[in-house]
Amino acid sequence: MSKLGGFGATVMGTGMAIPGRVVTNQDLERMVDTSDQWIVERTGIRTRYVAEEGVLTTDLAEAASREALRNAGVAPEDLDLILVGTNSPDTLFPAVAAKLQGRLGAVRAGAADVQSGCTGSLYAMAMAAGGIASGAFRHVLVVGAEVLSRMIDWTDRNTCVLFGDGAGAVVMGPASCGGGRVEGFSLRADGTKHDLITFMGGLVEHPASEETLAAGMHHVKMKGNDVFKFVNREIPPFIDGFLEEMGLSPEEVAHWVFHQANWRIIDGVLKRMGLPEDRAVVNLDRYGNTSSASILMALHEAVSSGRVSKGDRVLMSSFGAGMTYGALLLQY
Ligand code: COA
Repeated sequence: MSKLGGFGATVMGTGMAIPGRVVTNQDLERMVDTSDQWIVERTGIRTRYVAEEGVLTTDLAEAASREALRNAGVAPEDLDLILVGTNSPDTLFPAVAAKLQGRLGAVRAGAADVQSGCTGSLYAMAMAAGGIASGAFRHVLVVGAEVLSRMIDWTDRNTCVLFGDGAGAVVMGPASCGGGRVEGFSLRADGTKHDLITFMGGLVEHPASEETLAAGMHHVKMKGNDVFKFVNREIPPFIDGFLEEMGLSPEEVAHWVFHQANWRIIDGVLKRMGLPEDRAVVNLDRYGNTSSASILMALHEAVSSGRVSKGDRVLMSSFGAGMTYGALLLQY
């Protein structure tokens, strides 16, 4: 757990982007052996958005970034660093962040992708906050962007009903800039569970071959029920402990921005904390699980809709492939 000292860090502005094509549960009923009722009851998801042909992760990242920069009142030339959390980069290299830097004309900025499952953007926010608080960076653009639809097996009902495409972005700066001040964060991983969510094909362990294609290794594979159990076991005590270390009770957090993977997971954590449902910011019904974009999209919707008032605390928390997880606390 890290409490921020030094210059502190804050979220100055947020943005998001979604692609144009909506895929409903009814559409999926026509593609795989599933039902709207099963998907809604087991996950809470009703629709998700899928990038049209030719739309890249960098395109969504750019649209979200431009909105976040506008809302923050920061020019691209004033960025010191661009970090993009993504598990579906256009290419393994170059990084999405590097292409984004070029498109934005962020001439003074370094650029790197953070690939750490759905937790990638939360990790990136924590790294940005640490760098800003130390004085090493002044303005950092953090993005979560995904076009996972190109890496999904659309005949596998275990995965294709869950994910959606999208991007969220925040511009971060020193605490003196106002906005949502980062009070602290905690980052964790349990790498012994690395086999729960995987994309194996076409890289070092399994170079692309006819065999990897035949085995469907160029698709996301997930042991969904094991992920579900892991998250329900690990996340509630982790968040409890984090808040205790921050000297806060759950009641003092006004808005809970959880990773938008499954309503049952969010509901379980709220129940464990003894909190009402309306404390959670929920948009997974519309967007599905947008992986590393999810918490940034949810934060953007909460802030831009006026839901978050001055003084409110917002707890962001995510988990994903690795298994990685983490939490970050903001005060507006
Ligand atoms: N439609 C209908 N039936 C489905 C289905 C679908 N889309 N997907 C799976 N099923 C079936 C399974 O085949 C299984 O059938 P069986 O009992 O005949 O074997 C049954 O539903 C129950 O499967 P199970 O995996 O135990 O269901 P679950 O209650 O665990 O729900 C998930 C499945 C994936 C929704 C849930 O485990 C989950 O959300 N896990 C976390 C996933 C996650 O968050 N991933 C992202 C991490 S970043």
